[in-house]
Amino acid sequence: MLQLDTLVKRYAQGDGEPVVAVDGVSLSISAGELVALYGPSGSGKTTLLMMVAAILRPDSGSVFVSGREVSSLSARESARYRMHELGFVRQSFDLIPGASALDNAALKLLGRPAGMREARRRVMPLLVRLGLGERLEHRAERLAMGERQRVMIARALSTEPKLVLADEPTGSLDSERGREVLALLSELCRERGIAVLLVTHDPDAAAYADRVHTLRDGRLTDERPKPRLASASLR
Ligand SMILES: Nc1ncnc2c1ncn2[C@@H]1O[C@H](COP(=O)(O)OP(=O)(O)OP(=O)(O)O)[C@@H](O)[C@H]1O
Ligand SMILES: [Mg+2]
Repeated sequence: MLQLDTLVKRYAQGDGEPVVAVDGVSLSISAGELVALYGPSGSGKTTLLMMVAAILRPDSGSVFVSGREVSSLSARESARYRMHELGFVRQSFDLIPGASALDNAALKLLGRPAGMREARRRVMPLLVRLGLGERLEHRAERLAMGERQRVMIARALSTEPKLVLADEPTGSLDSERGREVLALLSELCRERGIAVLLVTHDPDAAAYADRVHTLRDGRLTDERPKPRLASASLR
């Protein structure tokens, strides 16, 4: 489903040596598989996801999604890829203040000819499934953090993508809410055969994954994160 082949990304920094943010990462993920990418701040996790999302172009190496190379798409093709084939839960919230949970979740569907009503009809069951059935008409700014995160997940899944990227989806949540969100994400994606690449620096979050990889200074290492909790109790 997703294949990363020796990806490298450097950032220029002023007059000094460039920072090698991602340094030769190869990885593949099958349909229905949830892979966690664990690593400290600055290890290159977001940079890696941005290349998979075709927002950043790698300096070398390639990203293949369902056999298609997305790392060399034109701006227009990559926008279409993000809109229709990918679900991306970004590290920062991008909910529209003043708009309801329902409309925020339906955002990616609004451009479709079927229109607003159809868009709402399609995301409603997702929001209900995510435990937001009572919050559909709440404005974004009146939702709790965990609820906002779930709206972001509903939006990411709304177009029925086969690949979902999630960048620290539990970063702003307490550990209990964080675990709820992860449990829902992994459950929904497994059911639908969606491949997930989940970025986290929470060692407990990794317990929901089929595989965990550690990124350090832009490279994958064999290190295993040390869970703070007994991982067996999390599934
Ligand atoms: N736009 C940019 N320009 C220059 N350097 C950057 C840029 N974005 C990231 N970097 C650098 O690249 C490295 C990797 O950053 P990245 O944001 O991918 O890390 P991260 O693992 O997502 O960190 P965090 O856990 O804090 O989100 C860091 O050294 C960072 O300072
Ligand atoms: Mg990051």
